[in-house]
Amino acid sequence: MKIIVGLNLLAVVSGILRNDEGCVSISGNFKACRESQTITRVMSEGFSSYLIFPLDSDTTIGANAFTNANLSVLRLNFPYPGKEKITPTLTLTFLPHSFSGMSELTNLTVTHANINFNCDNPFAGLLSLQSLEIMNSNLTEVPTEMLKSLPNLEELSLERNQIREIQPHDLAPFKRLRILNLSFNEMRNIAPGTFDGLDGLRVLDLSFNVFTAVPGLLKGLTQLEILRISKSFDHHGFQSFIFQDVPNLRKLQMGYNNLTALAPGIFDSIMSLRKLSLYGNQIRNIPTGIFERLRSLKEISIADNDLETIEPGAFGDLNLDGLILSLNRVSKIIQSDTFKGLTARRLSLNKCKISRIEPKAFGGLRVTQMLDLSENDLTDVGVEDFSGLTVEDLDLSQNPIETIAQNAFKNTVLQRLGLYGTPVKNRVDKNSWGIDSSVEIMK
Ligand SMILES: *[C@@H]1O[C@H](CO)[C@@H](O)[C@H](O)[C@H]1NC(C)=O
Ligand SMILES: *[C@@H]1O[C@H](CO)[C@@H](O)[C@H](O)[C@H]1NC(C)=O
Ligand SMILES: *[C@@H]1O[C@H](CO)[C@@H](O)[C@H](O)[C@H]1NC(C)=O
Ligand SMILES: *[C@@H]1O[C@H](CO)[C@@H](O)[C@H](O)[C@H]1NC(C)=O
Ligand SMILES: *[C@@H]1O[C@H](CO)[C@@H](O)[C@H](O)[C@H]1NC(C)=O
Repeated sequence: MKIIVGLNLLAVVSGILRNDEGCVSISGNFKACRESQTITRVMSEGFSSYLIFPLDSDTTIGANAFTNANLSVLRLNFPYPGKEKITPTLTLTFLPHSFSGMSELTNLTVTHANINFNCDNPFAGLLSLQSLEIMNSNLTEVPTEMLKSLPNLEELSLERNQIREIQPHDLAPFKRLRILNLSFNEMRNIAPGTFDGLDGLRVLDLSFNVFTAVPGLLKGLTQLEILRISKSFDHHGFQSFIFQDVPNLRKLQMGYNNLTALAPGIFDSIMSLRKLSLYGNQIRNIPTGIFERLRSLKEISIADNDLETIEPGAFGDLNLDGLILSLNRVSKIIQSDTFKGLTARRLSLNKCKISRIEPKAFGGLRVTQMLDLSENDLTDVGVEDFSGLTVEDLDLSQNPIETIAQNAFKNTVLQRLGLYGTPVKNRVDKNSWGIDSSVEIMK
């Protein structure tokens, strides 16, 4: 008994004598006061309404802590826990009135903290909130009940959590969402129709999950413009029928999905596509009939695949900004007329293990900037190899080219020729190679 009384007394005395509250300046424009683990007050000391708040220990946001800060943007940033330990180690505790009086707040971000919501809804009252990001914070589900109180939410980013599944009712309240990021979670199950009703959704990122591509997966997303589904699927893999529900797609990123072939009709329901990345798959062949009908295409990347053949005419007469076919690991020959009719600002065939070019392989191709053939296995340039090509920069650097045939560039329109790191660079003979004297040789 005596001991307990004594301890209580000590606590009272120390509470009076010690000034527990310490205040520090943050980001130059704010002063934050902390009492042990609790942020008690944050005050504005300037005109900024944008606060990046770095936190590096377990923290509780006290009731009304930000009432006098008049913030429109608040980022509660805990330190990145490092690549190995992906789950956060520090805890962020909210109290029922942690965000009271923040009716001006439009953007709230929390990164790398285990959030303790205290079975309450700290977000109630954030009536202006448009964007909420809770990244790498050990969430196991979409906190739907809590987010329901945010009538103006347009952007929801819950990436790098441990969310395992989503059902239609999880997202039903968020009719105004424009951007949804659920990448780097553990989603094994996305029920058909989960996104139905999100009529305004423009951007959806589901990359780095392990779900099944079920029919109706993207049902209702008629306005979707940007879809990221890199390394998204379980062992059944990607299925092209999911595109039937997203006719207005403009940008598609689907890297690392173990695609080995481009099946006929794979992109036929997304004819408005402008930008396509198939980075990091195992595609071996680019057949005709896949791309040349997608008239809006501006950029195609099939980099870091196993391309062995490109069927002549595969790109038809498209007019592209970029065609990136670099970093393909399988030895190959570029066949005659492969790119005939194509116009591109930049065509990259860098590091593609190209050992030989057939006559007129680039005939009928117009490249307004750079055709990059550097770091391949070319040993010579034959008389017809580049016949019919129009290009500004042709880069043949870092190929083991020993000989360039007489008049090899006679029927090539070019302004610069790159020969860095080639054996032949020491025997430049523009006249013999059929190159105009105005052409610059880079060596
Ligand atoms: C709060 O900030 C907004 C701008 O974000 C400003 O218009 C308003 O006057 C500020 N209110 C107060 C009380 O400082
Ligand atoms: C706040 O969120 C809106 C809506 O997503 C976004 O357009 C805006 O760029 C964000 N502002 C900041 C400063 O992050
Ligand atoms: C992450 O959340 C789970 C379940 O909510 C919990 O059991 C686990 O302890 C949390 N991880 C850490 C590092 O706190
Ligand atoms: C989604 O979040 C990831 C991880 O933070 C980020 O790399 C990606 O760019 C985001 N997606 C979109 C569409 O902004
Ligand atoms: C893709 O291939 C890798 C390596 O072969 C394998 O680990 C992974 O499970 C495969 N993914 C799918 C979706 O089949």
